[in-house]
Amino acid sequence: MSSADAILDVQHIAKALGGDAGSGRAATSIIGDLAFAARPGEFIAIVGPSGCGKTTLLMCLAGLMPVDSGRVVFEAKPVSGPPAGIGVVFQDYSRSLLPWRTNVANVVFGMKRLADLSEPQKAERARDLLQHVGLKGFEDFYPWQVSGGMQQRVAIARALAARSHLLLLDEPLAAVDAQTRAEVQDLLLALAAEYRQTCVLVTHDVDEALYLADRVIVLSQRPTRVLRDIAVDLPAPRDQLSTRAHPRFLALREEVLRLIKSLPKAH
Ligand SMILES: Nc1ncnc2c1ncn2[C@@H]1O[C@H](COP(=O)(O)OP(=O)(O)OP(=O)(O)O)[C@@H](O)[C@H]1O
Ligand SMILES: [Mg+2]
Repeated sequence: MSSADAILDVQHIAKALGGDAGSGRAATSIIGDLAFAARPGEFIAIVGPSGCGKTTLLMCLAGLMPVDSGRVVFEAKPVSGPPAGIGVVFQDYSRSLLPWRTNVANVVFGMKRLADLSEPQKAERARDLLQHVGLKGFEDFYPWQVSGGMQQRVAIARALAARSHLLLLDEPLAAVDAQTRAEVQDLLLALAAEYRQTCVLVTHDVDEALYLADRVIVLSQRPTRVLRDIAVDLPAPRDQLSTRAHPRFLALREEVLRLIKSLPKAH
């Protein structure tokens, strides 16, 4: 893919954290020469060892953390702060919702840039999305009145409501029960296709990565870089039962698991 075709172009970025000039403490290199690009509408899953720098990478992609070298280009413009058009679901859900707004009002807040919808239409859409992520009956509760996994699903509904061109998701389903997880995965796939949304999803779950993504990027341990970029050549549309039982799915699963197993543990 040439850079011109990419909606997101990560050009050889590097990032170190924790340095302190005052005490002379050296920074730790977290990301080392990492590059990949995403086409519009592509679904990319990122897997890698715990602590290798996945959250740091998403923060750099979202413009929430500056890179030390290289650059991130989104919609042909270098990212130097949080750009419009990027939505993020943070790994730390406890800090991502507005506590003084109800769950439905949090989701409506995600739609503030959508000029084509009236306020009642936004509220209706927000209730519909909350129902889809398994929160029917909790729409008018406040985030602090529901569990952590439920708060995370409100954050997912809010991010999906925004119809961002690029959605960055940091282990969004880690704290969600298996049945709801499958439902939210299918919602993610459907909405990404409907709005031709580009997604970059960090997950620990190799099966989830393969089920959702067009490409799985396997990261190395710290300082992290792209170890393997694997095309997920599975038939569309994906289906929770037949896709996961497909011989190609099982072969890809083995390939990714072997690769991850071969990595030394990050410390
Ligand atoms: N401010 C900081 N100063 C120094 N080191 C940091 C800082 N923030 C994060 N780190 C280290 O950077 C590494 C990468 O952290 P990061 O959260 O990006 O990893 P991750 O791959 O998302 O981990 P997990 O799989 O647990 O979510 C970790 O080893 C962490 O200890
Ligand atoms: Mg993380």
